[in-house]
Amino acid sequence: MGSSSRILTIEDLEPENKTVFVRADLNTPVDPFSRKLLDFSRISEACVTLKDLSNSKVVLASHQGRVGRYDFISLEEHSKALSKLLGKDVIFIEDVIGPAARNAISSLSKGQILLLDNLRFVAEENYEFKPEDAVKTILIQRLYKFFDMVVVDAFPTAHRAHPSIVGFPELLPASGGRLVVKELKALNKILSISKGPYVTVLGGAKISDRLEAIDTLIESKRADKVLLTGLIANVFLKASGKIKQSLGIENEEKYVERAKILLNKYPDTFLMPKDVAISIDDERKEIEVSELEGEQKICDIGSKTIEIYSKIIRSAGTIFMSGPPGLFEHKNFQIGTEALLKAMASSFGTTIVSGGHLVAALERFGIREWIDHTSTAGGALIMYLVGKKLPLFEALENSAKRFSKSERLI
Ligand code: 3PG
Repeated sequence: MGSSSRILTIEDLEPENKTVFVRADLNTPVDPFSRKLLDFSRISEACVTLKDLSNSKVVLASHQGRVGRYDFISLEEHSKALSKLLGKDVIFIEDVIGPAARNAISSLSKGQILLLDNLRFVAEENYEFKPEDAVKTILIQRLYKFFDMVVVDAFPTAHRAHPSIVGFPELLPASGGRLVVKELKALNKILSISKGPYVTVLGGAKISDRLEAIDTLIESKRADKVLLTGLIANVFLKASGKIKQSLGIENEEKYVERAKILLNKYPDTFLMPKDVAISIDDERKEIEVSELEGEQKICDIGSKTIEIYSKIIRSAGTIFMSGPPGLFEHKNFQIGTEALLKAMASSFGTTIVSGGHLVAALERFGIREWIDHTSTAGGALIMYLVGKKLPLFEALENSAKRFSKSERLI
């Protein structure tokens, strides 16, 4: 799992009095109805690097949500949250590469922070590029001349080769930010002591990343058992014929086909819920999976499933959990998430919890410090754990080779 990387740190860049582009990951869960931010952990994590750049002119940038989804919003609320957390005004501009943004960058003074709007408002940031092509994008071409250096701190986006991640480090000296360094150090330490049996608990709503990673996790002997919860469990339940109704999700057929292949390839690895909790007028009702009918919405795993999964978690050598098992924000459907996280917290195994939602859940249940490593990263962390070379680290390593002879081993 993982690998050591030769990358620069902020100190190597000597950023005092310079204009620094900081690529953070402020991508935050959004309430589908009010479109307000639901959790501030990634925004607060970004502050460590920003505080350490207080003698520079800082241009901060991030993506938020995905095109066409309710979470594809401007970063205005993020700027307010940052101002509050940092105790100083973070300037926000409703622009990314246009004249307004460029004028605002030119007018910055030492100690000021300017937050650009959602990077994905620029079409190119929704595509992946090879570094040599990323440098030709309008996004990079319009902006890079304004900066002396770049700090890439978007650990949760490390698996995406977007221009802002892989383009700037080709042209400018680039270092990892505090979050990137903290994650690398902690993960390398943890992975050196991890042992089997390896249990992975998957949940949440992002199915595609997880389906993609499962094969590699099992192949690389990092998942002896995969305990399925959340939407991904529904996909496997359907693939195994245990439920028949439509799941009401995009790309359903494609996901179900993929799940069938995985079930055939690894018949003894996956565990699916035996019972689930559904919502009847917002109240919790537990039923067997075989009793599910029509369009009933599954909101949590049921008590029998909790018992079986908790036992497996407690006897594991290493447990990795990504994505919540239920709608834990609702008190009637938090039981599954709380029970499995508590089983991890009380286990003697090495424990890693991944993704902003689960970190928020750990905070809510007051057990964050009982977990060996928590990370707000989701898909990127899974890819790191299976030893994939991630674009963000490649970009930083290449930049270190190109711009410095004093790179550090992290
Ligand atoms: C994440 O939340 O995993 C990162 O911010 C990447 O977002 P994406 O999956 O929309 O690319």
